[in-house]
Amino acid sequence: MNNQLINLLKTRRSVLSKNLSQPGPDEQQLQSILEIAARVPDHRKLEPWRFIVLQGDARKKLGKKFCQIRLKSCDLTTEQIKAEQSRYNHAPTVIVVVFSPVEHKTPVFEQLLSCGAVCQHINLASLALGFNSQWVTNWCSFDKDAQKELGLKPHESIAGFFHIGTATCIPNDRQRPDISQKTFYYS
Ligand SMILES: Cc1cc2nc3c(=O)[nH]c(=O)nc-3n(C[C@H](O)[C@H](O)[C@H](O)COP(=O)(O)O)c2cc1C
Repeated sequence: MNNQLINLLKTRRSVLSKNLSQPGPDEQQLQSILEIAARVPDHRKLEPWRFIVLQGDARKKLGKKFCQIRLKSCDLTTEQIKAEQSRYNHAPTVIVVVFSPVEHKTPVFEQLLSCGAVCQHINLASLALGFNSQWVTNWCSFDKDAQKELGLKPHESIAGFFHIGTATCIPNDRQRPDISQKTFYYS
């Protein structure tokens, strides 16, 4: 039995993106995270996902673009504008997982489940490499102009933004589900 792995899985926890900082994954570690992310169950090998990586100045550029988009439909306070603009400034690396379903006899629902597995593999791979992460959607995932800025095609959607870095503070655990209330033994 791999006790280290079991321990990691049993104690894993997300860290809020604003509490993530340097260091983040280097190029080789990033490639490992992406490789592990794509190593998921995938019915009929459709690979219905792709990745967009944000690092360095690209994070600031996207934050500013998204803020401009948000201001078209919302009144924001100075504080909110600052928060929008710096949305991607905290974690050194952000991976956007794009759900890119394929026209196929494999139902879209199954393709989406596979994409969800990709997402959680990013969290787990990041943690195994010694980093922390958070899976975030927020308004930007669902806004058509934000999707366009990232180059999404009309049939694609954003499964999440994965902020990856090192925790500046470790949160207390949240309450976890009572498995006995969630599990039924069919007989
Ligand atoms: C699809 C999806 C979208 C999420 N979007 C957000 C979000 O926009 N903002 C946020 O604070 N947490 C979001 N979360 C929740 C966090 O990623 C995380 O699950 C939560 O903070 C609890 O973390 P833990 O159970 O991994 O410790 C999202 C989770 C999922 C699965």
